[in-house]
Amino acid sequence: MLGIIGAMAEEVELLKKEMVQPEITSVAGMDFYRGRIGGKDTVVVRSGVGKVNSAVCVQILVDRFGVDGIVNTGIAGSLKAEINIGDLVLATDAVQHDVDATQFSYPPGQIPQLEVLAFEADQRLREKAVTCCRQVNPDIEVHEGRVLTGDQFVSSKEKKAWLSETFGGACTEMEGAAIAQAAYLNQIPFLIVRAISDKADDSAQMDYEEFERLAIIHSVNLTRALIEHA
Ligand code: ADE
Repeated sequence: MLGIIGAMAEEVELLKKEMVQPEITSVAGMDFYRGRIGGKDTVVVRSGVGKVNSAVCVQILVDRFGVDGIVNTGIAGSLKAEINIGDLVLATDAVQHDVDATQFSYPPGQIPQLEVLAFEADQRLREKAVTCCRQVNPDIEVHEGRVLTGDQFVSSKEKKAWLSETFGGACTEMEGAAIAQAAYLNQIPFLIVRAISDKADDSAQMDYEEFERLAIIHSVNLTRALIEHA
């Protein structure tokens, strides 16, 4: 059974509406909706924004619901000129860009005493997502690349440039790599699906408000198809 995490209400609202007679369980201030989507038993939850909320959410999905895979759906800021607002990004891997133990010779993003810098998304889920996306979002470009996560909304060209130079990411957001780390610790597969709402630069705030709704529809379309074909 897949667990579907969105950070914001809008990101999971559409999926919750499609559930037939969901059973709702509240844990740690989060409402977990368990029911069938496209005939598949699924748990959908709004984690809240940021790394701590989303990591706690994964652990509850594993411990209380026994999920054996996680999909994180949501929106993100693009870090590349060729990745446009409205496009989708599927994670190849995810890094926490705000982790800094460089003082102890760790590279930026590396969590001390953990073996990996980047957490790798599940190959099977990635392949399924690419196929599903061509079917349900035929007009949209799908990119695969690294997702950069931090407890920061990125909205300056200096920060954006630093992120690209340091980590080479495709997009930036606030939950993906924390979900990835929690999935890694629990040894379960994960995928991050992000629709681009802004360019993570000086125009980010304005773009975000305008494109958020459209971006959410694209990532939800894909997530729904992924559940049905998983
Ligand atoms: N989510 C959507 N856009 C974002 C940005 N620019 N920075 C962080 N999270 C985001």
